[in-house]
Amino acid sequence: MRIGILTSGGDCPGLNAAIRGVGKSAIIDYKMKVFGFSSGFRGIIEKDYIELTEDKLSGILTLGGTVLGTSREKPFSNKNKFKKSIDKPELIKKHYKEMELDCLVCIGGNGTQTTAHLLAKEGLNIIGIPKTIDNDVEGTDWTFGFHSAVEISTEAIDRLHTTANSHKRIMVIELMGHHAGWLSLYAGIAGGGDLILIPEIRFKEENIINCIERRVRSNKPASIVVVAEGIPKSNKKSAAQYVSELISKHTGLESRQTILGYVQRGGTPSASDRILATRFGTFATSLISKGNYGNMVAIRNNQMTAVPLSEVGGRKKLVPVNYPMIKGARKLGTCFGDY
Ligand code: F6P
Repeated sequence: MRIGILTSGGDCPGLNAAIRGVGKSAIIDYKMKVFGFSSGFRGIIEKDYIELTEDKLSGILTLGGTVLGTSREKPFSNKNKFKKSIDKPELIKKHYKEMELDCLVCIGGNGTQTTAHLLAKEGLNIIGIPKTIDNDVEGTDWTFGFHSAVEISTEAIDRLHTTANSHKRIMVIELMGHHAGWLSLYAGIAGGGDLILIPEIRFKEENIINCIERRVRSNKPASIVVVAEGIPKSNKKSAAQYVSELISKHTGLESRQTILGYVQRGGTPSASDRILATRFGTFATSLISKGNYGNMVAIRNNQMTAVPLSEVGGRKKLVPVNYPMIKGARKLGTCFGDY
């Protein structure tokens, strides 16, 4: 069999572990030929690929980013509808056939799995592998990249505690997560955040101020505030700037902001992400060997499973407002801005 692999969307730690998991198991276990497309879907549109041999796959387990490169190319979006745009889905199908591929493995987040589903509906044999630091892909408990980002963000929050206490300041840190607050919730709790704001929980400005002032009254002049970049903001400022200025303005306390940004997506994957990405990769090739296409590999209750792409495409997995970890954090006095 001949399979293609592409990595698409925002990069994250673990992508190379996943490429290695698919590639090595395909070659060693199933004697398949493996081809890696460059820069996500743009690579198959432009037929820009390399053969992934065993030697090309060795030494990449611990490497951050993706050796194939990535892009946010969306073949089915007709953004430049005024310009005679090339028919990208047709080009993908043409090159898939010319290369005599038996399957295309699409490693990526929500947008990637949506495109993967559309390509499957066009008749291509597709397997999706969920990745993103946001952990917001429907159908799977975890995506690789998430655990590494939680570790990176938690280490940063730990460092903010020492400077907050030294200056008796309110330190506001903004984490990634455009639509879902998983990363801010997990790193906020792991890092001992006093106030955590996520898009899924509607907060009120007065509750934020009351939370900080309550802490000051109980002799806690320093606070750590963790905010997801996607929280509703009343102006063009960043989430961190909006919350930091709100607190300073209404409490008179000193506040400072940190936007952790792309650091959360960089560097070597955590051991947990290396294991998850490898499990996804080897499970993907087992599905391919059985001709079980049109699915995304997923982990549910620590078991590998196949989820139809039709149940994933176009959706996002948001934090449930009654999520047990939120209930637990409230018992410790953590505020979420909703009361
Ligand atoms: O999808 C993961 C993510 O890191 C989001 O958390 C973030 O908002 C977005 O990608 C940033 O996109 P880009 O890498 O295109 O700037």
